[in-house]
Amino acid sequence: MKFFIDTANLDQIKEAQDMGVLDGVTTNPSLMAKEGITGHDNIMKHYLDICNIVDGDVSAEVISTDVEGMIKEGEALAALHEQIVVKLPMIKDGIKACKYFSSKGIKTNVTLVFSAGQALLAAKAGATYVSPFLGRLDDISTDGLNLIAEIRQIYDNYGFGTQILSASVRHTMHVIDCAKIGSDVMTGPLSSIEGLLKHPLTDIGLAKFLEDYKKGN
Ligand code: E4P
Repeated sequence: MKFFIDTANLDQIKEAQDMGVLDGVTTNPSLMAKEGITGHDNIMKHYLDICNIVDGDVSAEVISTDVEGMIKEGEALAALHEQIVVKLPMIKDGIKACKYFSSKGIKTNVTLVFSAGQALLAAKAGATYVSPFLGRLDDISTDGLNLIAEIRQIYDNYGFGTQILSASVRHTMHVIDCAKIGSDVMTGPLSSIEGLLKHPLTDIGLAKFLEDYKKGN
């Protein structure tokens, strides 16, 4: 299972990269704005900064909603760095653009996916990744994990190569449940990765080992 971090914060990306468990980064326009990154040139430079920190795929989202605009933007993003994955919204023009980029060998991430039918379309269009937003479904009292399980079953039934990128992960239990279901990737905040480290018995056990070592020396 790949671990992506869902942020545009360079310090947090470095922190996860330094742990040695990071496989990539996802961003979106809201995450960029949160870091105060605005304007085309600054945004493009920030993508490059991210690519220079991590070894894996970096999703960069288009803001056009028509296929021509998405293709123009996506081509510029893909030309920026080999690690860039063009992130496209799950709308009809997004699917057309996804098909275009697949045929050119450019990696894509179809985002804002909230149903199995949408995930099926993304796979048919040759998406590299599909991003079901499980946290946002949970927010409206709908079982987000069930959607991940449905997509897993559909993709396995037909051998689709599209990777399930469970997005809108909010906490460690989401990460563990995604792993149990067989999600290919999860993207979440640094806290969802670092939270996996924690267990009180580990802390108690380590303190005892160190205390006993001191007694014997
Ligand atoms: C996915 O790529 C999105 O950037 C993200 O996971 C959305 O998460 P949120 O629902 O916590 O905003």
